[in-house]
Amino acid sequence: MITDDFDYLAPGGRSYTIASGLIAGLKKNSRVLEIACGRGEAACALAEKFKCHVEAFDIDPVMVEYSRKKAESRDLAEHVDFFVKDGRDMDFGEGKYDLVLAEGGALTYIGREEGVARCADLLKEGRYLALMDLIYTRDDVPQPVRDAYEEGVYRYLTEIQYRKLLESNGFEVVFAAMLPQSAWDRYYMQMRRKVLSHRNKYTKEFKDSMAREIDVYYNYGGIFSVGYFYAIARLARKKQVKPAPKNLRIPLAFSFVR
Ligand SMILES: C[S@@+](CC[C@H](N)C(=O)[O-])C[C@H]1O[C@@H](n2cnc3c(N)ncnc32)[C@H](O)[C@@H]1O
Repeated sequence: MITDDFDYLAPGGRSYTIASGLIAGLKKNSRVLEIACGRGEAACALAEKFKCHVEAFDIDPVMVEYSRKKAESRDLAEHVDFFVKDGRDMDFGEGKYDLVLAEGGALTYIGREEGVARCADLLKEGRYLALMDLIYTRDDVPQPVRDAYEEGVYRYLTEIQYRKLLESNGFEVVFAAMLPQSAWDRYYMQMRRKVLSHRNKYTKEFKDSMAREIDVYYNYGGIFSVGYFYAIARLARKKQVKPAPKNLRIPLAFSFVR
């Protein structure tokens, strides 16, 4: 059961972030970049657990200010830098990071194709990209589901298309999983509470679109068409993959071909 959401704004949670850090082998002197950090929960979790250095940004100054205060209150300010930035413009140089974290659909927001290519540039050779993103789990996604999730703006891939995109940018997927149903239930329950609460200052537009998404997920087949993809991919650009020998035959234990 995924119930450890803390302060995340998407299905997932702290256990995924920590798993990414463990697979990436983060140490004290490791450098991490987080794209679209939201409320700063993942950046703080990595800094707290691995004592590494995390740079985390979001396009929304309110999120960044909130995250900074959180880091200060947890005594993590020396390990995490939060700043305002548009992820479509990641001008941070080349080959600098040990882990790039793109949770909560970050790559969808910044433009997935360009975003993955830029992540490959930013990473050191042999290091990791950890992502969580919405995907379609079938090709024939009903139109009402597409409308609710795409909002006329976003585009989603299937798992196989996502894997191909990563591979074509020199990544090798070392672990991948779909988040369990409980992650969606927990996330939508939390969002429903938030949009219904009078204390939250979400716009009417956001409240309406979230209510529509929840309705479509549970009542109009969204549950059978969308999934949340978690993948950790290692940048293996320089690794030469040997072509298979020409006379390779795959042994089929129950082959009827003689
Ligand atoms: C669904 S939230 C996920 C936040 C966080 N990663 C999490 O998992 O809790 C998406 C975040 O993306 C940010 N965002 C949207 N477009 C962005 C962009 N072009 N550059 C940077 N951040 C962006 C939003 O401000 C928001 O905080």
